[in-house]
Amino acid sequence: MRYAEQSQSGLPDIEIPVLEPQRQLYFIQKAKELTKQYWNGNQPPAYCLETFGCQMNEKQSEVIAGILEEIGFVRTRREEEGDFIAYNTCTVRENANLKVYGRLGKLRNLYGRNQKMRIALFGCMMQEEEVIRKIREDYPFVHLVFGTHNMYQFAELYCRMMESGQQVVDIQEGSDRIVEELPSARNFGFKSGVNIMFGCNNFCSYCIVPYVRGREKSRTPGAVVNEVEKLAEDGVTEVMLLGQNVNSYGKTLPEPVSFAKLLEMVEKVEKIRRIRFMTSHPKDLSDELIEYIARSRKVCHHLHLPMQSGSSRILADMNRHYDKEYYLDLVARIRKAIPDISLTTDIMVGYPGETEEDFQDTMDVVEKADFDTAFTFIYSKRAGTPAAKREDQIPPEVVKDRFDRLLALVQKKGRENSSRFEGTVQEVLVESESKEKGIFTGRTQYNLLVHFEGRKEMLGQYIRVSLDQCHGFYYLGTVVEENP
Ligand code: SAH
Ligand code: SF4
Ligand code: F3S
Repeated sequence: MRYAEQSQSGLPDIEIPVLEPQRQLYFIQKAKELTKQYWNGNQPPAYCLETFGCQMNEKQSEVIAGILEEIGFVRTRREEEGDFIAYNTCTVRENANLKVYGRLGKLRNLYGRNQKMRIALFGCMMQEEEVIRKIREDYPFVHLVFGTHNMYQFAELYCRMMESGQQVVDIQEGSDRIVEELPSARNFGFKSGVNIMFGCNNFCSYCIVPYVRGREKSRTPGAVVNEVEKLAEDGVTEVMLLGQNVNSYGKTLPEPVSFAKLLEMVEKVEKIRRIRFMTSHPKDLSDELIEYIARSRKVCHHLHLPMQSGSSRILADMNRHYDKEYYLDLVARIRKAIPDISLTTDIMVGYPGETEEDFQDTMDVVEKADFDTAFTFIYSKRAGTPAAKREDQIPPEVVKDRFDRLLALVQKKGRENSSRFEGTVQEVLVESESKEKGIFTGRTQYNLLVHFEGRKEMLGQYIRVSLDQCHGFYYLGTVVEENP
């Protein structure tokens, strides 16, 4: 259902712009008024926004936060202090949904005590019919629900929620639309994600993302570079280009552009010092890209290359379009071209029909590929995906046993591999101060973390640190040079 072109604010209809982002900028102004009238105390009202899921969700939450701050809210991290509570949801595994329902249980109590509170749920999980049915029936205190395709309309939907006094649910089935130039409140001053594409066309048999995010759409290179330039002017020096499969970037644009070409354009933005990207699907990783990373001065030598399984049989069933040999050969080609590359991956165990032999293939790839880290997941059945319909689902105790063995190997190999930088001096971007005062955390281009004694002025700066001792996933180090 679309919002009818009807103004309820007393302004003539003609004043509501049809074009975006002007339309949303209009509704931000209107939302400001509605907010002032509703929360008319001495303090500005507070919003609490929580993000579940991937970095793309994090990035989109920054836009929602930016709009809320334009509307006149201030941020709080404490839910009980929030006047407006919003969750940007994920549904990639069942656990993600369970977390949201758990949190809604707690919110019910908070709302019971403060019925002036307004609550919104949005993002991937809201694209599922079953979830919407449940929210309508069991969670009437949720005031606003929207999905992934109309996030850009947040200000407009917010106005509708404030005016209607009823639960507003607006889920769209798909969209070709990418709306640029909305406000944004960034989490970090010196680094930022940049969406380069939305959606996914791969339909891996276990995965719900294509259903909830829709078809793949790339932003134009101009829009991406423009955003990176603005970020750089604003103090950002590290960008992470985001997409479900960045290696197929640009293929559907009216004038197709390869991902390697996009990297080249982003690299020209002078004040940017580091470029990262996520995620690379192994099937589309081109030689052009490998060569580009090898010769680039700015693209970090870190690749996240999800393998999912080491078994060719399972990979075929998963619709991944590569097999064990291709994956291992790809790893070898990457290492030959970029010897210091850090590789990380995602691995799933317990996919329907997985045998002990299939699992041993996964262990074999982990032995051979020398990942610095691997994110390990237990297969989770997602309604509507082809794999969910299979009858040969694996018993939980078998999955748990495989998962434990995999995790032990991943950790052992991770410790061995990531300790290869011990004793070297590396440039790090200083990202945060730990709870222990005076101890700071920096990130190497290889995505490895190092803790060291430092000063507040170092935050957001590049310094050289000696990586003295490897402790598995992080190093302890000492500052060698502050202004390299
Ligand atoms: N587009 C990325 C993955 C995005 S989802 C890619 O193809 O590489 C992040 C990770 O979640 C996946 O790599 C996969 O390992 C895991 N995942 C996705 N669906 C899952 C499911 N149904 N059960 C368990 N893990 C899943
Ligand atoms: Fe899911 Fe596969 Fe798309 Fe990744 S590439 S988001 S795993 S369908
Ligand atoms: Fe989750 Fe949606 Fe990302 S399902 S992993 S938040 S694309």
